[in-house]
Amino acid sequence: MRKKMRIFHSVCLQKYVPPVWSRWNLLCTAFLCLGLTIVRAEDDCPVSCMCARESGTVTCRDGEDFGELPVNLPEWTSNLIVQGKNLSILQRGAFIDNTTEMEITTVCLSYNGIQVIEPYAFLGLSRLHLLDLSHNRLESISTRAFFGLPQLRSLYLNYSVLPAAVTQLSSALSSQTLANLHRLDLAGNRLKAIPLARFDSFNLHILVLVNNSLETLAKENVSDLYQLRHLRLYLALNPFHCNCDLEEFYYWLKNSSQCPDAGRLMCSEPENKRGALLERLRAEDVDCNLENLEAVSYVFLGLVLALIGVVFLMVLYLNRGGIKRWLNNIREACRDQMEIYHYRYEQDSDPRLANVAV
Ligand SMILES: *[C@@H]1O[C@H](CO)[C@@H](O)[C@H](O)[C@H]1NC(C)=O
Ligand SMILES: *[C@@H]1O[C@H](CO)[C@@H](O)[C@H](O)[C@H]1NC(C)=O
Ligand SMILES: *[C@@H]1O[C@H](CO)[C@@H](O)[C@H](O)[C@H]1NC(C)=O
Ligand SMILES: *[C@@H]1O[C@H](CO)[C@@H](O)[C@H](O)[C@H]1NC(C)=O
Ligand SMILES: *[C@@H]1O[C@H](CO)[C@@H](O)[C@H](O)[C@H]1NC(C)=O
Ligand SMILES: *[C@@H]1O[C@H](CO)[C@@H](O)[C@H](O)[C@H]1NC(C)=O
Repeated sequence: MRKKMRIFHSVCLQKYVPPVWSRWNLLCTAFLCLGLTIVRAEDDCPVSCMCARESGTVTCRDGEDFGELPVNLPEWTSNLIVQGKNLSILQRGAFIDNTTEMEITTVCLSYNGIQVIEPYAFLGLSRLHLLDLSHNRLESISTRAFFGLPQLRSLYLNYSVLPAAVTQLSSALSSQTLANLHRLDLAGNRLKAIPLARFDSFNLHILVLVNNSLETLAKENVSDLYQLRHLRLYLALNPFHCNCDLEEFYYWLKNSSQCPDAGRLMCSEPENKRGALLERLRAEDVDCNLENLEAVSYVFLGLVLALIGVVFLMVLYLNRGGIKRWLNNIREACRDQMEIYHYRYEQDSDPRLANVAV
């Protein structure tokens, strides 16, 4: 299209020279203008965007076309940054440009209030390496949301996924299309479990789960992790429950070096271990056998005390005759004592003696 226009443009200029062709001249000028505007439209920056051709970056922030993705991106675009646009819904084929296959390698869509990602939303971005969807409010993510991204290496979904979309996310991620995914950032999404059915579905090397609601890592997950030596998991700022459910996870932290921020993991439960570092826990703190043993020993202690009580009562019962006698003896003794005391008292209170003393 552009080439044709340029050819037409030069033809036009040649014909401009002889004054005889004045009518043609007029026509030519009209075509020239048309040609120029089309050429400019192709080369120029979309409305309310900034373009840096050297770096291949188109940046569109805020602006008037609130709620829409920029259209007619320059052919040379390799980085697209769109922010503050209140996009709400990423529609099917939102990035398909009907003139050329896009060469875009990175797309940043953070802070756009995106709530819904429709199926095939990123179609036409087959060269995409990095997709940043952080800081949105995803409520619905289609299972086929990430179809057509065979080269995607980094996916940022930090501070973006609302609880309603977590299950959908896990099916969207488990699709076979993200075969090259290397880094997945899921920080700050209040996740209670890792939303991946398997760790080895992708070529995952970095999984960021910082600032979520994980209480522990399930036994199955830990045994999977031992198999994937290249995988690094970031887990700081999760409210870990430091009881014996933590056992496998605890040994994984100690044994493998797959958690680069292991030194920052802290307990939030139980009360007496709140704020304690997971790494500083002792093996006894997470030992399930020991915990069970403790429970068993309390029961045992209870039984022994009960038994002692029963034996004591039996002894009392069997000796009731003797006890009665013994009590009588004591009573006698007391009475004797009281009588002696009484006698002494009477003597002491003799008024004559009192006068002598004064
Ligand atoms: C964003 O768009 C949605 C609908 O498209 C609208 O309801 C909402 O008010 C908009 N938010 C802002 C901050 O403009
Ligand atoms: C691009 O799409 C528009 C409508 O969306 C259409 O009018 C135009 O003909 C298409 N151009 C090409 C080259 O396909
Ligand atoms: C979101 O994740 C990306 C990739 O890990 C990171 O560069 C960015 O700083 C994160 N944003 C926040 C607010 O943590
Ligand atoms: C953790 O995430 C919550 C939202 O989920 C956010 O409000 C808080 O600031 C984050 N904390 C840190 C230390 O990043
Ligand atoms: C983690 O373990 C749970 C079972 O507790 C399982 O459903 C899930 O698929 C596992 N995820 C990974 C990534 O291993
Ligand atoms: C490694 O894990 C095993 C249990 O799986 C444990 O017995 C061993 O003590 C651990 N090694 C270290 C150094 O913690």
